[in-house]
Formats: sequence, C-alpha cells, structure tokens
Amino acid sequence: MQVCSVAIDGPSGAGKSTISRTVSKRLGFVYIDTGALYRVIGLRVVETGLMDLDTLKLSIEFTNGEQRMFDGTRDVTEAIRRHEVSKAASDCSALPEVRAFLLQLQRDLAGKNNALMDGRDIGTVVLPNADLKIFLTATPECRAQRRFEELSQKGGVFTYEQILSDIKQRDFNDSTRKEAPLKRAPDAVLLDTTGNTFDESASLVEALIRERLTDVL
Ligand code: DC
Repeated sequence: MQVCSVAIDGPSGAGKSTISRTVSKRLGFVYIDTGALYRVIGLRVVETGLMDLDTLKLSIEFTNGEQRMFDGTRDVTEAIRRHEVSKAASDCSALPEVRAFLLQLQRDLAGKNNALMDGRDIGTVVLPNADLKIFLTATPECRAQRRFEELSQKGGVFTYEQILSDIKQRDFNDSTRKEAPLKRAPDAVLLDTTGNTFDESASLVEALIRERLTDVL
C-alpha cells in the first residue's frame, strides 16, 4: 500500500503535539510523537543516572489512536511528561548514538500507515521525502505561557519565568547541537501560531494537508 507522510517540526511548546493529534484524528492518519522516544531515554537517565541503550526495551503501542510508550513492560506514557525529563531528553537528543538508535525505528513507524509525525528533524533527516513538511513555531513567551498553563493544570510547581528560561535554553540546545539540529527544511511551510487559538492553528494545518494531499484524502 502506498502511504503518505506529513512532517511537522518546530520548537517545544509551539503546539505541535496537540495540533498533530487533533488533525490526525480528523484525517484518519496515525500520529507519531517522536519527542516521546527521546523522553523515554531521558526518563531512564533521570531515574538511574545512566544512559544504557543496550538495556532499553523501548516500544510503542497505539491504543484508540493514542500513542503509549513502554520501557520493557512498564507504561511510561505519563512519567515521560515530567518537567525534569524534558531537560534530560534534550541532553540525550544531542548524542549521535541516541539519534542513530532512534532513526530507523521512526522510519519504520512512518512507513506503515498514512502518518503525521512530529519532532525536530523529521523534515530534514528522518523523512526527507515527506509529502508535506510544516515548520510550526511561536515566540518563546507565547510557548512558555502555554506550557505554564498546561503544567499548572497538572499541579505543577514551576513559575512562568522558570519555564520561559528553560524553553530558551532548550531552543538553544536543540538548534545549536551538531547532530540533526532543529531547523526548518528549505521546503517546509512556515506556520507561526503566536496569538492563534488552538482551533485556528489546527484548522490551518488541516487545510494545508488537504490542499497538498488531494489524491490521498
Ligand atoms: O517534543 P518534546 O519536547 O517531547 O521533545 C523532547 C526532546 O527531544 C526535545 O528537547 C528535543 C528532542 N527531540 C529531537 O531532538 N528530535 C525529535 N525528532 C524529537 C524530539
């Protein structure tokens, strides 16, 4: 079966995952959140202080369209969202061995179904031949505010200033690392979601995909 793929890249907090999840459901695509893969490795480091890829039994299940992450038999879907795991995932993602470890896995996942895959290097490295590439961004302040509201709802203890400073640091790390840095592919459509409601951004992404992939949809 001929499958198609949409790559959505951009910095953290730009709304990639919420938008991608919603749009995938509307289009009947599988949504693959690649940041979650890096987060499983980051969680290991937070919990054990070690990054041992040989003992990592990383697997993914899709239950009712939701991606669940496992380390062995342990479901780590919620644990990988902890704030301290974000920093560890970013650090791990700079390591060439980590990126190499995850590359084929990501390509295999995208090759099975019509997929919308989000991350940092999907359009540039993982799926350079994606049918459509989108680079989704927003100002650091706007992204920090969104993340602050999301974490506050879950009872988070971090201030807006801490989150803004972490986001800026993470942007710097992700875009200046040597291996597959965060950058817009030359053929990616740039979408700045600053000031947009979630619905506006999701509708824009959906419209772009429908326009480009008319023969599939
Ligand atoms: O999207 P996220 O915040 O869940 O991603 C966690 C970290 O993983 C982030 O700091 C960057 C890294 N990452 C990456 O380097 N490449 C990807 N394709 C996805 C995420």
